Amino acid sequence: MSLAFHKFHEGPIIRLRWTTQTDLQSRVAVGVGARQHLVECLAQLKVGKRVLLLYPSALAATWGEEIEKLLDQSDYQVSVLQMPDGEIGKSLECLSEIWDTLQLHCLDRTDTIVALGGGALTDLAGFAASTYLRGINLVLLPTTLLAQVDAAIGGKTGINLISGKNLAGTIYTPQAVIVDPAYLSTLPTRDFTSGLAEVIKYALLENTIAGASEYKIGPRRFFDILSESLPNINEEDSVEHIHPLLPGIITSCIKMKLATVAADLREANLRRCLNLGHTLGHALEKVSDYKLAHGEAVAIGLVFATRLAVKKNLIGEEALNRLTTLLEDVSLPLEIPGEYDKQAISQSMLHDKKRAGEKIKLILPKGEIGSVDYSYEIPTSEIAHCL
Ligand code: GLY
Repeated sequence: MSLAFHKFHEGPIIRLRWTTQTDLQSRVAVGVGARQHLVECLAQLKVGKRVLLLYPSALAATWGEEIEKLLDQSDYQVSVLQMPDGEIGKSLECLSEIWDTLQLHCLDRTDTIVALGGGALTDLAGFAASTYLRGINLVLLPTTLLAQVDAAIGGKTGINLISGKNLAGTIYTPQAVIVDPAYLSTLPTRDFTSGLAEVIKYALLENTIAGASEYKIGPRRFFDILSESLPNINEEDSVEHIHPLLPGIITSCIKMKLATVAADLREANLRRCLNLGHTLGHALEKVSDYKLAHGEAVAIGLVFATRLAVKKNLIGEEALNRLTTLLEDVSLPLEIPGEYDKQAISQSMLHDKKRAGEKIKLILPKGEIGSVDYSYEIPTSEIAHCL
């Protein structure tokens, strides 16, 4: 399958191609206004005429209606299913409702699920698309910064079980991902800031990704670009209009993620580095009962990993100072809030899937900003002490 990128859109939209070892291909288009080209994209993919459009109810009156109208004006037969917002939608009940709706409207393997929403919805839609008739087409329109730079890219899908998050899932490559930074204009400030933690994470991984994949470092380091630009991309910029640097920043993150996934789809090696800051981050989210947003918890995890790396003489103190300055500049937290029990957090970290016997594998910055050791082993007995 190939897509004529030059025909996709005449304009400032950046097209990226993602080919994995398994020869699955996905197309990612990034640009303000890219969402308006959904119908064109479906036509280029040569998919069947039936579409199931999914979006969270919170987006119904805005972006949901816009995409629905766009599809209604085309010659696709569109069914719409509104899903609950956030993690609560990643349930067996919602999954089953999607499967039943696909059946009810007779979608076959040539047809498509189009999912508009944040990472929870794109995960759920991906799981449904990968399992219905053993796989139907999937086009994602991520609407949060977190989903645009991470969740909707790379093929991870999943739902939550009572015993934990993302415990059932698949890896399934969407046919296309349309990333429109205009969606960020209505994103609540806290969600936008939270997404910046994942953006900053990529800056801490750039050299490592470049060393083990086809990603090429540009004339300036991503961390330097972010240090200079992020303090100017403030709440007003994100809510009132799209800062001109934002599409480029999002594109850089996506390029790093695509290169990582192309090198290691199944997270046997390089892809593990994307978990930088997440061992503590996930534990914090859980212990805070998800009161801390994902990105806030990851920001604290990035500081923890860098502080630990300084302690272990893997990296100099200056790297830690530069990171904390950048996180502070964008109003992300650095420290575990006092109300959360460190004992409970370290216990939760020890249940992390990266534990191997008496040791836990952490991703720690090493050498200089942009490089990490992604299999640094630390005895579990040290974890509580490190916190
Ligand atoms: N969110 C990390 C990954 O996709 O591997």
